[in-house]
Amino acid sequence: MKVQDLEFKKFITAPALAEKVHALATQINHDYKGKTPMFLPILNGSFMFAADLLKEIKVPCRVSFVKTSSYSGTSSTGQLKTLIGHDESLFNQHIIIVEDIVDTGLTLEKIIEELRALGAKSVEAVTLLRKKPAREKKVDVKYVGFDLEMEFVLGYGLDYDGLGRNYKDLYKLAENASANP
Ligand code: IMP
Repeated sequence: MKVQDLEFKKFITAPALAEKVHALATQINHDYKGKTPMFLPILNGSFMFAADLLKEIKVPCRVSFVKTSSYSGTSSTGQLKTLIGHDESLFNQHIIIVEDIVDTGLTLEKIIEELRALGAKSVEAVTLLRKKPAREKKVDVKYVGFDLEMEFVLGYGLDYDGLGRNYKDLYKLAENASANP
């Protein structure tokens, strides 16, 4: 499948994604029994994952979408913007950050730091995908769906230059395509 100048191939199918989402939700339901967590999905990439995950959360919870951005094309720019859009008080809340993918972990580390400074009672993160750099850096993510190497992926909310978020399956860059066009 071609998106802009790059060729992508199917990587993780919609049913496999759904199965993993169910497993993550089951773990969270177990761990947060008796609590009322606040889910903070990070836009734009997590919108599809967050919608599917939250449909399977059985404990009472709140949801507030927030935004930050550090990506341009297929490699991290390292340019971090601050967390924006949280309109409810996060003070004294059990926060669960919902990420689509953790790559270098810079975005997540910055968000966790900000939330702790705002006085959150606890801060954990759930991510559908985690790449090798975050694993090596031991970035603090309690719930991880799939561990990847370095492949660039799109679909199921994730984009390549704004395109591909609408696909229900996850795709990865074909091996012969350049990751840095
Ligand atoms: P990090 O700060 O390097 O961990 O980057 C995290 C953010 O970069 C994610 O929330 C995504 O928006 C974006 N990102 C990282 N890897 C990919 C990818 O393979 N495809 C699409 N977006 C990605």
